[in-house]
Amino acid sequence: MVLPRSRISPFLCVIALLGFWLNAAYFCSGRITSTYVRAEEKSLDMPLDSDVFRVPPGYNAPQQVHITQGDHDGKAVIVSWVTMEEPGSSEVTYWKEHSRKHYYKAKGEVTTYKYYTYSSGYIHHCTIQNLEHNTKYYYQVGTAPTTRTFWFVTPPPVGPDVPYTFGFIGDLGQTFDSNRTLTHYEQNPIKGQAVLFVGDLSYADNHPNHDNNRWDTWARFVERSVAYQPWIWTTGNHEIDFAPEIGETEPFKPFTHRYPTPYRASNSTAPFWYSIKRGPAYIIVLASYSAYGMYTPQYNWLEEELPKVNRRETPWLIVLLHSPWYNSYQYHYMEGESMRVMFEPWFVKYKVDMVFAGHVHAYERSERVSNVAYNIVNGLCQPLSSDQSAPVYITIGDGGNIEGLANSMTEPQPKYSAFREASFGHATLEIKNRTHARYGWHRNQDGFAVEADSMWFHNRFWYPVDDVAATKS
Ligand SMILES: *[C@@H]1O[C@H](CO)[C@@H](O)[C@H](O)[C@H]1NC(C)=O
Ligand SMILES: *[C@@H]1O[C@H](CO)[C@@H](O)[C@H](O)[C@H]1NC(C)=O
Ligand SMILES: *[C@@H]1O[C@H](CO)[C@@H](O)[C@H](O)[C@H]1NC(C)=O
Ligand SMILES: [Fe+2]
Repeated sequence: MVLPRSRISPFLCVIALLGFWLNAAYFCSGRITSTYVRAEEKSLDMPLDSDVFRVPPGYNAPQQVHITQGDHDGKAVIVSWVTMEEPGSSEVTYWKEHSRKHYYKAKGEVTTYKYYTYSSGYIHHCTIQNLEHNTKYYYQVGTAPTTRTFWFVTPPPVGPDVPYTFGFIGDLGQTFDSNRTLTHYEQNPIKGQAVLFVGDLSYADNHPNHDNNRWDTWARFVERSVAYQPWIWTTGNHEIDFAPEIGETEPFKPFTHRYPTPYRASNSTAPFWYSIKRGPAYIIVLASYSAYGMYTPQYNWLEEELPKVNRRETPWLIVLLHSPWYNSYQYHYMEGESMRVMFEPWFVKYKVDMVFAGHVHAYERSERVSNVAYNIVNGLCQPLSSDQSAPVYITIGDGGNIEGLANSMTEPQPKYSAFREASFGHATLEIKNRTHARYGWHRNQDGFAVEADSMWFHNRFWYPVDDVAATKS
């Protein structure tokens, strides 16, 4: 769509540069601000004696079990868990379904950390490698007699037409609403096979002195999902835990001790930005709270990373980051702007399919929007709302944490915003083949099968026709 721009003065362009464009009224389009309004209630952290935080029985029982992908293409899994009384063993015993007698063992490592007056339990990490694809594995952690057994299913081999389903959760926390979001994800008949988590895990830092016991309770709460399917981690501001007033000056200390990522497999130099392939998808995780200016490690890595993506092998290019670039709520307004300025031209050039962010505690889905043409004097000072090379931006920071909902929106709804609603929920993406993927957003107030917002994504490399417009009618 060509924007009328003959009468836009340079002065207006400067105003636009300041960000007023995010707010302006444009043309009539399929913009939707959902009429559903969630009843205003406080989001309260579940009390420490809640069922979801229960410590498993037995001396030195492994707790807080979680897994994530352990290599670049899905044949390795990192298993992590905590023992409280003593280090015990960091070994994982695992076997393929139906072959309990042929078991394998992998050696792990144990670590601990202190944070202000808190001392962690014994945190174990063990990478299991060379797994077979499409296979159910059981795994056991702990030392007899207090062992615990879980299972996971490995992804199909990387390839363009292997169906795969992802779930998306952000800003989860550990409130009664968080528990509803997780339950809805688990009960959703569209069975997510891995979670792409867009940052802000435990919100321990909202408790006095960043009470790190709340990192432990969070990990016990989500174990019922993340022990059985990998969650892919993105760092948010609640992972920084930088608190010089209590002598804690090492950013991301609790997160890095507890949640390893396979960053070395993608030649990254820090755990906060990295990539993985999983089935038909290439997933790039970026760090909103690590330096991304020109020549920084993250900038250099991403510049080298994007040309490596082979869309004939992995058609779907998905980016995860925490602070959204396109956000029409009044919360965290424009916070993602500096990263957008740095990286958006690359996203358009390499035709990223979708970008998921959190941070704003609500839901929003954009048009295929880009704002890369503007160069101060060319008059193109409004974002282009139907750029078929641009990604769709989705804010899914609606996990339901202690800070409550972001329910105040900028008005009128900007043209680039296709759908927005201030409710808690999660999203799913069912990749069917190289051209089609079914996306849905599920709010917690609905039945498990209801999609409150949905869209058929058409792949930007294989089938770059206007999918957002097709969804509106
Ligand atoms: C959390 O959700 C689960 C599953 O729906 C339920 O069994 C449990 O009682 C809930 N716990 C709390 C504290 O809400
Ligand atoms: C990482 O770098 C090595 C050495 O340059 C290279 O062989 C390998 O393919 C790279 N891996 C990825 C995932 O880019
Ligand atoms: C891809 O999946 C879509 C949706 O299920 C289907 O309509 C389309 O025919 C499929 N394409 C191919 C080539 O199988
Ligand atoms: Fe955040």
